[in-house]
Order: sequence, then structure tokens, then C-alpha cells
Amino acid sequence: MDRIRIRGGRALKGTIPISGAKNAALPLMIASLLTEETLVLDNVPRLADVSLLQHILSNHGVDVTVSGKRAGENENTGQTLQLSARTIVDTTAPYHLVSKMRASFWVIGPLVARMGEARVSMPGGCAIGIRPVDFHLDVLRALGAEIDIEEGYVLARAPKGLKGARIEFPKVSVGATHTALMAASLARGETVIENAAREPEIVDVAACLVKMGARIEGAGSSTIHIQGAKHLRAARHPVLPDRIETGTYAMAVAMAGGDVVLAGARAELLQTALDLLRKAGAEITVTNEGIRVRRDGAGLAPVEVATAPFPGFPTDLQAQLMALMSRARGTSRITETIFENRFMHVQELARLGARIHLDGETATIEGVEKLKGAPVMATDLRASVSLVIAALAAEGETMVHRVYHLDRGFERLEQKLAHCGAAIERVAG
Ligand code: UD1
Repeated sequence: MDRIRIRGGRALKGTIPISGAKNAALPLMIASLLTEETLVLDNVPRLADVSLLQHILSNHGVDVTVSGKRAGENENTGQTLQLSARTIVDTTAPYHLVSKMRASFWVIGPLVARMGEARVSMPGGCAIGIRPVDFHLDVLRALGAEIDIEEGYVLARAPKGLKGARIEFPKVSVGATHTALMAASLARGETVIENAAREPEIVDVAACLVKMGARIEGAGSSTIHIQGAKHLRAARHPVLPDRIETGTYAMAVAMAGGDVVLAGARAELLQTALDLLRKAGAEITVTNEGIRVRRDGAGLAPVEVATAPFPGFPTDLQAQLMALMSRARGTSRITETIFENRFMHVQELARLGARIHLDGETATIEGVEKLKGAPVMATDLRASVSLVIAALAAEGETMVHRVYHLDRGFERLEQKLAHCGAAIERVAG
């Protein structure tokens, strides 16, 4: 298994290109199941999760072609995927695939909407607390599907097709909003989603569904109206830039110091996080190219924040912020309100010398002057990158084990950081 070795203490200087958003690319790829025609997606990041989903979709009968590089493109240009679900050969998503990536459960919406049936494995255990699928099932029931659970599989049946309905979520869910959007796009009549997730990735998927022929209004607000179409058609859509990758590198620069342009990043996708970083002492400016992040020698100020659905501070940046605050001048407080048990990074950060105290869903971080390199273990995607951030400012060497978690969600992480002067390398095997 690959490891990543980091020697801390170097400032970051240069440009980091921001990739397409993983959390938009995955549902966009799944949306290809809604039409017999070809969906072309540009700016798709090269990630393990994307490859896995390609595999899962092929299992259903989707032809996936990855375009080669064209003139003028370099390794920073995302890939173009052509997804063609002319014939769905199998409406079952088996356990051995769904268990590897939760988001693959989302194939259930498009499959039942188009084929009238789907058999999708329950996602199973997950490292970050209980992440149920009850909202997804409520959506499909509201749209007229019959739901049974048999031997760990959800069977969804709607032989006469789905029918528009009013759906009100008891709690904001990104995934269940995707399910509702996609399924309602092929349902008869109108669907109204109340308390919808407002994440930019929802807006991106809705924009693509509109290109495919659905009529959607209100994506990005809490109420979304969808007029279903009988058939959806071919479309071409670029994946929006990854706001979590953007925030992660912004925090890496705030941690290590330096001056970096996050090329292609869009500030409006992560305003709350950028405001917080400014408060902590990073200098952040929006440029034509993207976002410029600077920090000179001055220490960081502590912050207090709770994670929240968009436009609040994202749970997917919580671990990275905690790493950053471990060196602030004073005591910070971070409350996790979205997921239970999303503090697995705490004990690993402690190995580097961070002083963090957990009380229920709140972490109190007492800033220390120095972190010291140590061997640490990546536990999940966002937690693992928080260890990289901490290591950039730690004295000596840190070896991050189990980096396959990083490969799921960060494209060429070590190259991007090394290009800006970080002493970071992948150690194979
Ligand atoms: C998505 C993101 C993930 C991010 C999360 C929250 C993708 C691929 N993943 O995950 O990176 O951390 O949003 O921003 O886009 N819940 C239920 N029942 C359900 C569904 C969810 O109770 O049926 C709960 C969850 O346990 C959690 C909350 O709702 O407490 C929000 O989860 P949700 O927004 O659905 O997360 P995901 O869509 O899985």
C-alpha cells in the first residue's frame, strides 16, 4: 500500500490548479442512466471514486469512453467522459460494488425512474458514523415506487413509472436531494422538493438535467420545482470546480505559509470557509485566475465554528480546519453537526502533537507552537488530508499510511503540493 512522506517546514509558493468537483462528477455520471442518448461530461477529475463509478455504471450497461488529451491540454485539464446508457442490461447494483462507495447507492433513483425497477445493495458500514438511506427511500415512495428490503438489498418497483409529488425533507440531505432531482426529472407531472440541499453540486446537477430536457426551477434554494419529461436527451456539461479541494489547499497555504494561486477556483462556492480563513489571518484575494491565498510569518488566530449545510461551513473541511487550528495562538472550537463520529482524525493529529479535547460533537483545540512529524494513518478521505496539512507545518518527517483514502478524492495531491515547494513524495508499495 502506498504511503506519503512529508518533511514539514517549507512555505508554499506557486499555482495549484483546482480540479472538477468529485461530489458533482459522481451524481452527474449517475444522471447518464436517465437517457438512452449520450451524456458528455468535461472537467471530470481523475480519481479512484470516478473510476469505481465507471465500473459500476458499466455493470448496468453504460458505455463509458474517456477521451484522450487534445492539443493544448495538459495533466491539469480534467478528462472528458462520454456516457451512453442506450440499453440498461442490469438493474442490480451488487453489494461488492456499492459497499466500496456510498454515492453509488444513488443509481437507484435513475434506474427506477427509467426502468421501473432497481435492486440496489444497502451501502453497509461506513467509517463516519451512521449514514442511512431512509430519505432516499422516502423520496421514491413519495414518487409512487414500492419499496422492499430483502437480504440487504433495496428493491424499488414502479412498473407504471414514477409520478410527481411534494417531498419535504426532515433534514437537509445532499444525496437524497440528488435522488429526488434525478427521479423527478423522469416522473409524470410536477415534483416540489422542500428543505432541499442548496449545495453548489446540486445546482450543477440541476443545470445538466435542464440541458437534458428536464424543467427545473429553484435549484440552489430550499424549494425546487421539477416538471418531469417523458424522455431525456443528450447533453454536454462541464463539472464545476471542487470547492472542498479549494478550501483544503487554502488551508494548506494558511498552515505552511506562502503565496499560492488556486487556479480555476470560484470564491462564491466557499465564501464561509474563506471568511473564516481571513479571520484566522490568511490573506485571501479573488483574482482573474482564481483565488490567491497568502500568509506571512504571523501566527494564526483561533476560530469558533459549527459545520452546517451550504452555505454554512462544510463538514468536508472540518478535519482540515482542525489541523490548521492545532497551531493557532489560542483555543478554537469546532462543532460537527452533520455526521456522527467524524472525528477520527483527532487521535492521529494528536500523534503529531496537537492538543484536542472532544466533548460530544464539539472539539476544543488548544493551539500549540510546534507539531512534530510522526507516522500516522489515514482513516477517511477528508481526515487523511488533514494529516497532510498538519505534516506540512510539522518539524521533521511524517509518513501518512493508507493513502488510498486520499486517492479517492484528491487528484495528484502530492504533485500539486510538491510543485509549490512542499517536500512531499509518494512511497510505493
Ligand atoms: C454528501 C457528500 C459528502 C458530504 C455530505 C454533507 C457526495 C458524494 N458526498 O454526502 O462529501 O460530507 O454530503 O455535505 O456528494 N441522512 C439520513 N438519511 C438519509 C440520508 C442522509 O439521515 O437517507 C443524514 C446523514 O446521516 C447526515 C445528514 O443526513 O447526518 C446529511 O447527509 P447527506 O447530505 O445525505 O450526505 P451524503 O449525500 O451522503
